[in-house]
Amino acid sequence: MSRTLRFNIFRYNPQIPGAVPEMQRFDLNETKSMTVFIALNRLREEQDPSLKFDFCCRAGICGACAMVINGRPQLACHTKTMDLPDQITLLPLPFFKCLGDLSVDTGVWFQDMNRKIESWVHTDKSFDPEAPEERMCNAEAEAIYELDRCIECGCCVAACGTARMRKDFLGAVALNRIARFIIDPRDERSEQDYFDIIGTDNGIFGCMGLLACEDVCPKHLPLQDQLGYLRRKMGFHAVKKFFGK
Ligand code: SF4
Ligand code: SF4
Ligand code: FES
Repeated sequence: MSRTLRFNIFRYNPQIPGAVPEMQRFDLNETKSMTVFIALNRLREEQDPSLKFDFCCRAGICGACAMVINGRPQLACHTKTMDLPDQITLLPLPFFKCLGDLSVDTGVWFQDMNRKIESWVHTDKSFDPEAPEERMCNAEAEAIYELDRCIECGCCVAACGTARMRKDFLGAVALNRIARFIIDPRDERSEQDYFDIIGTDNGIFGCMGLLACEDVCPKHLPLQDQLGYLRRKMGFHAVKKFFGK
């Protein structure tokens, strides 16, 4: 027999002056293989067309549908209702600007983060469109690809205690991105260049290492390994600098 799910959903329209956030209840019959994303679509189609939430790919690729589902940041399109109890509470990701109900603006934050860490390959070589593609060894290419799987969903930042306390904290997503460029043989930045970006309390030294980021990452990126690697690398660099080496 199918369950009746009770959804408690955060409602807020910041465009209405004086609007106050509230929780709204909806009941919905569960269907086979239902995801939270499917449930939200049905609620919007059948019960309340004003319900706001984001999605694009429905396949865990775009990162747009991240929200807090029963206390945990995760993707609505990847979360099956059969794995949840019949009471489901949905909140927007904290930390990011709420645009309405479950919709948040991750784009502005990610754009700013990518600008701060200069998230592109730095090289003095000029690009020759006629030249054959440069070769890279398989191991390096695979290591870069592994870290490039990030979909910028924001779950790791929403779960991060340091990000809540320090508004300029770069977060695991940015640190992972830096680790990706350090591996990349085309990037000519020096250790000091990377230290200038992440060797601060808003970078690797502000990370408390409790690893909520790794726990919630829907793409299972190896954030723990990257944070440990960067902490050692930047720590050694600071010591070398101190002794003038
Ligand atoms: S380990 Fe660091 S980046 Fe990850 S959630 Fe904790 S403080 Fe944030
Ligand atoms: S590191 Fe994981 S949790 Fe963080 S933004 Fe990328 S995919 Fe999302
Ligand atoms: S809709 Fe794209 S990740 Fe869920």
